Amino acid sequence: MNIDSVGFVMSAGGVPECPPGARAEIAMSGRSNVGKSSLLNSLLGHKRLAKVSNTPGKTQRLNYFLVNDQFHVVDLPGYGYARAPGSARNQWGQMMQGYLRTRRQLVAVIQLVDSRHAPSREDHEMVRWLRDEQMPFCLVATKIDKLGQSKRQSALRAITGALELPETQPLVPYSSHTGEGRGALLAWIEHALVTVAGS
Ligand code: GTP
Ligand code: MG
Repeated sequence: MNIDSVGFVMSAGGVPECPPGARAEIAMSGRSNVGKSSLLNSLLGHKRLAKVSNTPGKTQRLNYFLVNDQFHVVDLPGYGYARAPGSARNQWGQMMQGYLRTRRQLVAVIQLVDSRHAPSREDHEMVRWLRDEQMPFCLVATKIDKLGQSKRQSALRAITGALELPETQPLVPYSSHTGEGRGALLAWIEHALVTVAGS
C-alpha cells in the first residue's frame, strides 16, 4: 500500500464525537510512551502529524487521521499512565471501553508493545480483550532499533510467549527512527481493509 494523502481530521472526546459515516478505521493502542504517535508519523510519512513527547499521557483524546481519502487511523490515548489522577484514568477507561465496544467502523487494531520490556498487566488485558472479541489485531514491537541483532529474536519470542499468542499471530518489529517494519505494517493494514471490504 502506498500512502498518497494523509491529513488530521479531528480529535474526539468520546464515541458520540467520532466522525459520522461508514469509513473503516484502524486504531492504534498501547501503553503511554510506547511510541504510538511516533509510529503513526513514521507509518504515514509525516514528521509532525501526531504529537510526540517524552511526557507520558500526551495523547488524551481519540485523534482521527484520514488516509488516501479511504480509511481512518485513530491514535488512541495510552493506558497505564500511573501519574494520571484517578478521575482522569476513570474517564479514560470509560472512553476507551465505549470506543472499543461500540464503534462499528473499527475493523482492526494495531497493538503496540515495547520490544525491550515484558508486557505490562494492561498489555495482557488489552490482548486478552482483543482475542475475546475476535478483533483482528497486529502486534507491533516498538523501538526495535534499541535492541541489538543478538537480542531481537529472544525479545520477540519472550513477548509472544508471555502473551500466549499463537504462531500465526501477526507480529511486526518496528522502528519509527529507521522505518523498519513500515512495509510489513502497511501490507497488514491493506489486508485488514480488503478483508472487511470483501465480507
Ligand atoms: P502517549 O501519547 O503519551 O500515549 O505516548 P506515545 O505512545 O504516543 O509515544 P510517543 O510516540 O510520543 O513516543 C514516546 C517516546 O519514545 C519519545 O521520546 C519518542 O522519541 C520515543 N520513541 C518512539 N518510537 C521510537 C522508536 O522507534 N525508536 C526509539 N529509539 N525511540 C522511539
Ligand atoms: Mg501519543
